Amino acid sequence: MPSSKATLAIGLEGIAVAETVLSHVDGAAGRLVVSGTDVEHLASTVPFEAVAARLWTAQDVGGAVRSLPPVEPADGPVDPDAVRSELGAARRAAHALLRTLGEALDAPDAMEALRASVAHLSEPQGRPGSPAWARNARIAGAVAVFATAWARRRGGLPAVAPDPSLGHAADYLRMLRGGPAGPEEANALDAYFVTVVDHGLSASTFAARVVTSTGSDVVSAVTAAIGALKGPLHGGAPGPVLDMLDAIGVPDRARAWLSSELAAGRRIMGMGHRVYRVRDPRAAVLEVALRRLTEAVGLRGSSDAERTSGRLALARAVEREATALLGERHADRALRANVEFYTAVLLEALGIPRELFSATFTAARVVGWTAHVDEERRKGRLIRPTSVYVGPMPTP
Ligand code: COA
Repeated sequence: MPSSKATLAIGLEGIAVAETVLSHVDGAAGRLVVSGTDVEHLASTVPFEAVAARLWTAQDVGGAVRSLPPVEPADGPVDPDAVRSELGAARRAAHALLRTLGEALDAPDAMEALRASVAHLSEPQGRPGSPAWARNARIAGAVAVFATAWARRRGGLPAVAPDPSLGHAADYLRMLRGGPAGPEEANALDAYFVTVVDHGLSASTFAARVVTSTGSDVVSAVTAAIGALKGPLHGGAPGPVLDMLDAIGVPDRARAWLSSELAAGRRIMGMGHRVYRVRDPRAAVLEVALRRLTEAVGLRGSSDAERTSGRLALARAVEREATALLGERHADRALRANVEFYTAVLLEALGIPRELFSATFTAARVVGWTAHVDEERRKGRLIRPTSVYVGPMPTP
């Protein structure tokens, strides 16, 4: 075998390839800090637009994000209202582009449609005089419009024109349903968007940074990131989590069902994480958002509330049994619920079809990706690892 001085790190576990001021994942402690603030605090107090404002301008404050005080609703280097109105303008611009997308939105899979439609975008220029981060808003607005338009088209319905005066989450639900969402529903989706907006160097974020490190453009970086997120080991688990809950049906059947899946060598979706060695903190945040939503809807006494609280009870039972069974099998490695477990239940409660779950995740994460693209551009170096050749050598 040829000699190589390279260290072999398949999967790149534990290898740091970038410095970032955007988010910090502490896998041992189960902590996620986004732009200087714990995700638990962000998701309950700060609208998505304020978090986007922080991430998109993090580089402008000289990398000092970590020392900033906790973000308050109207706090941050950019007024969240400016981000809200830029995102609104971006949604309107993207809606006008829909007719130019050809067959991109006809793809049977939402992520495939998103990949194709985002790839159609030209490098966003922003409006004259608009700030640099407005380019990122252009792409984020487009993702929300393309995702919801895809879902409508699949249902044989026309796309709904955005309402730029609404918050991004509220308008996402409106564009999807064709009618306004209740404030508690918009708040729940907003909390979800905040919870998943950025997560260190996830595979998709890494993909975006690799593409950016070559000097390529932001549309290419986001297109690559969508491709990475499409895979079931990264972003594709919430749909299968619901399939699992459907198959289990009632809490009493959880243990037997999970045992037979494991015996058949299959993985339990929504469990385990490459970085976290405790429960994913985002699972807890989403569980709280779900409880709030259930209570709010429950106060109105609807049958939806009953269904959602039944689903939540089932999810909790399945999580408990899965944690126990995986603990027995992998005593040396904690396999706990990840973000996708409660994502599934929350998005379902909001009436989002399961085939749109990954695209809905994308609608939030694109903000993180574009912030990483900016950071990579400013600080990065061509990312070019090496490989260890284990093939045959020519005979001398
Ligand atoms: N169900 C059953 N077993 C699991 C498991 C799961 N969800 N996650 C990991 N394991 C097992 C593996 O089979 C492996 O067992 P082995 O050593 O006997 O072969 C061991 O735990 C270590 O798994 P590994 O593949 O090395 O972990 P990873 O860090 O590469 O995987 C995930 C992380 C997320 C890819 C993995 O936990 C997984 O596939 N989870 C389900 C998919 C999911 O929820 N994805 C969303 C992530 S946010």
